[in-house]
Amino acid sequence: MRKKVTVVGAGAVGSTSAHWLASKELADIVLVDVVQGLPQGVALDLASAAPVEDFDLKIVGTNNYEDTADSDVILITAGVPRRKDPVTGKFPSRDELVKINQDVVGPITEQLVKHSPNSIIIVVTNPLDAMCHVVKHISGFPRERVIGQAGALDTARYKTFIAMELGVSVEDVHAIVLGGHGDEMVPLPRHTSVSGIPIRELMPEDKLQAIIERTRKGGGEIVGLMGRSAYYAPASASVAMIESILKDKKRVIASAVYLQGEYGYNDLFIGVPCVLGSTGLEKVIVMDLNDEEKAMLDVSARAVRSVVDVLGYAKPA
Ligand code: 2OP
Repeated sequence: MRKKVTVVGAGAVGSTSAHWLASKELADIVLVDVVQGLPQGVALDLASAAPVEDFDLKIVGTNNYEDTADSDVILITAGVPRRKDPVTGKFPSRDELVKINQDVVGPITEQLVKHSPNSIIIVVTNPLDAMCHVVKHISGFPRERVIGQAGALDTARYKTFIAMELGVSVEDVHAIVLGGHGDEMVPLPRHTSVSGIPIRELMPEDKLQAIIERTRKGGGEIVGLMGRSAYYAPASASVAMIESILKDKKRVIASAVYLQGEYGYNDLFIGVPCVLGSTGLEKVIVMDLNDEEKAMLDVSARAVRSVVDVLGYAKPA
């Protein structure tokens, strides 16, 4: 039987994710959104590309969670994005969205788990690490089946900036970004190379630090340019995670997962290298970080914890 993926939210990240899921022919797709007509329209439009693009899938748009039943993987993109306040002209931080999106993601999760109790949920909604807590708390799923998409995106941006600076193929840039999906995220230069050549042999420190800073603010840079959140790279990062799960590829992808002692953190979602396979999170890889890296991860973890605390959940005993 074909696999089934539900994408919650037919906005830009959701519909772009559906597009890439379809073009890679990964699974039947259900696009669900609260707005009447929107998911149906996106699904019909995407399905109509099938004869040209040659993908053969069932693509359904719906406002009804019953249609999501028995999904293998669910991607939650729904929520209020970072957009300019028309009155103040300011952009909310990811963290300011926490309460608003808790009230969006919580009820959605209830609906999803009722119809797909064995699914693996990938969270994209911001503030990412906190929204993972919401999904885990409401679903009651084990940590293997609630995974946040952030490190894949942040790592992709970091690699892109390095390739652009050096004028080399992105395919040859190898790197990883840990931590929360916020301005304190932790790109790791000591684990960054171009075809195995350490990055510090290829680039002066000031250029490298500028790239690290640009990576940390990568989402904000795009919001500043377009007046709204990014969607191509977030969607492609999400689909890479889904592909690894559906095909049991066991790719090692930085993902936000619920740590239970790894890296010295407990009861906290934060980005770390993970093996993603058919059961979801199959393994957390614990890297041997030096003192400086560990200190940066601590700063990021504290930032995540301060947002998670806003959710008001009691700490597990
Ligand atoms: C980003 O970093 C919106 O979190 C998303 O672009």
